[in-house]
Amino acid sequence: MAQINPSILSADFARLADEAEAVRGSDWLHVDVMDNHFVPNLTLGVPVVESLARATDIPLDLHLMIEDPDRWAPQYVEAGAGSVTFHVEAAAAPVRLAREIRAKGARASMALKPGTPIEPYEDLLPELDMVLIMTVEPGFGGQAFLDIMLPKIRRTRELIAKHDLELWLQVDGGVAASTIERCAEAGADVFVAGSAVYGAEDPAAAVRNLRERADKASADAWWACGH
Ligand code: DX5
Ligand code: ZN
Repeated sequence: MAQINPSILSADFARLADEAEAVRGSDWLHVDVMDNHFVPNLTLGVPVVESLARATDIPLDLHLMIEDPDRWAPQYVEAGAGSVTFHVEAAAAPVRLAREIRAKGARASMALKPGTPIEPYEDLLPELDMVLIMTVEPGFGGQAFLDIMLPKIRRTRELIAKHDLELWLQVDGGVAASTIERCAEAGADVFVAGSAVYGAEDPAAAVRNLRERADKASADAWWACGH
């Protein structure tokens, strides 16, 4: 079944506990950490994640858009994250980092910006629990979905199948009712949605609607057969 991860980047930062409650029934809460170096925007850090982890039962899916994830990612596991995604463009030693995240008890995930190909990282996939294919340039919510990323999603799903891995494939950026089906058909099974969820009148209903669309679209997809 498709997993829907609302992104709190589009939520009210002064009311994060309530905003988590508003998407009850979601699989994960997606938390975007930006440092104004790796991306031209600044959001939140370890103390906020610690507080949020205490304030909600929904597991936290951390997306680190920061320089030096080798240094910071383990601290986000200790802060209470259930999954930590680092950008491979910023990681000095991705294998060591993925192993450290897993050893500390979280799921390890690697993100690729739109211009970064998946092929050079094929051998790294068994070290990971999830791959995140960005479908916008990281940094801001509310951007238009990049259709041109669909072949990369498909090729990533093919690599996962080739190696018979239990890897989740996440997409992030511009995911909405109008784009989620294409992502699911191409091979994504974890969907981040910010404005499509928190911009809706009823965020929990928006999550259910997205999940239903993704499930329908992936039901007959080649990659989901036998799932
Ligand atoms: C963008 C962030 C996303 C953002 C997505 O860099 O990584 O998680 O919240 O927002 P939407 O769904 O509005 O494109
Ligand atoms: Zn994100």
